[in-house]
Amino acid sequence: MADKDKNVVYTLPTNKEKYELLAQKNEEALLGGGEARIASQHKKGKLTARERIHLLLDEGSFQEIGKFVMHRAKDFGLDKEHYLGDGVVTGYGTVNGRLTYVFSQDFTVFGGSLSETHAEKICKVMDLAMKNGAPIIGLNDSGGARIQEGVVSLGGYADIFFKNTRASGVIPQLSAIMGPCAGGAVYSPAITDFILMVENTSYMFVTGPNVVKTVTQENVTAEELGGASTHSTKSGVTHFSCANEVECINYLKRLLSYVPQNCEEDAPSVPYEMKEDESRPALDSIMPDNPNQPYDMREVIEGIVDEGTFFEVHKNFADNIVVGFARLAGKSIGVVGNQPSSLAGVLDIDASTKAARFVRFCDSFNVPLLVLEDVPGFLPGTDQEWRGIITNGAKLLYAFSEATVPRITVITRKAYGGAYDVMNSKHIGADLNFAWPMAEIAVMGAKGAAEIIFKKEISEAVDKEAKLQEKVDEYTAKFANPYRAAHRGFIDEVIMPSETRAKLIAGFKMLENKVETLPKKKHGNIPL
Ligand code: HXC
Repeated sequence: MADKDKNVVYTLPTNKEKYELLAQKNEEALLGGGEARIASQHKKGKLTARERIHLLLDEGSFQEIGKFVMHRAKDFGLDKEHYLGDGVVTGYGTVNGRLTYVFSQDFTVFGGSLSETHAEKICKVMDLAMKNGAPIIGLNDSGGARIQEGVVSLGGYADIFFKNTRASGVIPQLSAIMGPCAGGAVYSPAITDFILMVENTSYMFVTGPNVVKTVTQENVTAEELGGASTHSTKSGVTHFSCANEVECINYLKRLLSYVPQNCEEDAPSVPYEMKEDESRPALDSIMPDNPNQPYDMREVIEGIVDEGTFFEVHKNFADNIVVGFARLAGKSIGVVGNQPSSLAGVLDIDASTKAARFVRFCDSFNVPLLVLEDVPGFLPGTDQEWRGIITNGAKLLYAFSEATVPRITVITRKAYGGAYDVMNSKHIGADLNFAWPMAEIAVMGAKGAAEIIFKKEISEAVDKEAKLQEKVDEYTAKFANPYRAAHRGFIDEVIMPSETRAKLIAGFKMLENKVETLPKKKHGNIPL
C-alpha cells in the first residue's frame, strides 16, 4: 500500500511475522526490568513478581491481564524508558481450585513504583474481583509513588485506596509485603483484611529512616523502623511475620482456605466424618487447681478444634489474647481466647483492638465465632487510661454486639467485671453460653470485692487479717462459680471440659441457618 502524498511504502507483515512479534513481546514482558535487575532481586533473597504468582496459584491457572501496558509519562527521560507491563503483573487464577485475583509488583521495573498505568492495572483486577465476588491478593514490593509522575501517581494510589475501602467486607483482600513498601505503598495494605510480611526483606513505613533522622533526629534502621518483627510485635500492623517468601505464600493459601469467596457465601468447610465419641478427656485435667495459676489457652483451643487446624493470626502481638481460624467438624470458625499465661489474660488496648478487628473480619465473611473466656478484667493504670482503654475496649464490645454470625462462648475460668460483658456475653447477643465448673463470674475478684463491701466490718475487727479472709471466702463461695449466672440463664449450660467439643459441634450445627438482621442504618459508628 502506498501513501500518495509522502510516497512512503508500508510493508505489511505476514501472519507468520505477526505471530513472531507476539512471541517476542511476550518474551520481553516476562523479563520485566531485565536480566541484571532480576539477578539483583534474587541476590537479595527475593523472588520476582512472576515467580511469586507461580508459587501462589495452581499450576497453569494464571491468566494475565494487561501484559503489554506501558506508562504514558514523558518527563525525566521516561519517554525513552518503557517496560511492558509497567512494573506490575496482574490477572487471575485459582488457589486450591478457587478463583482468586492477584497483582504482583515487579521491583525490577522502576523499583515497583506506582505509576498512573500501574495503578490502572491494579484497579482493573480489583473491579473484576468485586464484580465476580472473589478474593484479591496483592503481592507488594514497591518504592511507592513513581516520583517522575508526580500527582498522577498520587491519584493512582487514591483510586486504589478508594476501591480497597469499597471492597472491604465484600471480598477478602490479602496483602503480602515482600520488599520495601514506603509512602503510599503502605496504605492500601492497611485497608485490606490481612497483612503478611517477610522477615529481613520487607519493610513498611510512611517515611524511611532518612526522613526520620531529619525530622526527629532519631537514628533507626529500616528493620527497626518498619521490619516484620517491628510490625508483628510492636505496632501490630502486620498479622503474620513469615520466615521467607515461600512461607508467606503458603500462609496466604492457608488463610484463603478458611474464608469464603465473598460476603454472600458461607465459610468453607472440608468433609468430616463424625465420631461416635467426640469427647476430649485430656481437657478435664488442663485447668490448674489454683485459680491464679496460668495455663496456655492455645492448648485448650487445640484440644477442642479439629486436630492441626488452628491457624493463629497476630501471634506475636498482644499475646494476652489469642485469635485465629480453625475447623470444627470440618467447618471453618474464628476463635478468640483470653490467654491466662500472658498478663493473666487481662484486656488492654492492644488486646481489645486485635480481637475487635478479628471479630469484624469473621462477621463480615460469615465465619462463626467461638470465644473462650478467662479474663480478670480490663488492665488498670494511667498508661492505659491516658491512651484510651475506654475507647479501645469499646471497639471489642461494639464488634461483638454488632456481629450476626453464630456466636458461642465458653467461660473456662474467670469472667470478671466489664470484661464479662465484653467477651461475647449473652447480653450482647451470643447465641449459646457455656461455662466450665471452675468458672468464676462476678463484678470483681473476691479480695477486691471484700475490701470494698466489708470495709467497715474489717476495719472494726480485732483481727483484721482474719476478718478479711473470712469475707473473701464468703464472697468466693457465693460468686466464684458459674451457678449464679446459670440460675439467671446467662449461662445456658455448665459443662465438663471434656464435652466442650461435642457441645460446640452440636451448637454450631444448630446455629447453621441463623438469620439476624441489624436495624436499618447507613452504617454504625464504631468507636475508632
Ligand atoms: C521511581 C523508583 C522509586 C520511585 C525506586 N525507584 N523507588 N523509581 N519512583 N518511588 C527505582 C530506582 O531509581 C532504581 O532504578 C530502582 O527503582 C531500584 O531502586 P534502588 O534505590 O536502587 O533500590 P534499593 O536500594 O533496594 O532501595 C529501594 C527503596 C529506595 C528503599 C524503595 O529506592 C527508595 O527509598 N525509594 C524511594 C521511596 C520513596 O520515598 N517513595 C515515595 C514515597 S511518597 P534503576 O533504574 O536504578 O533500577 C508516596 C506518596 C504516596 O508514595 C502517598 C499516598 C498516601
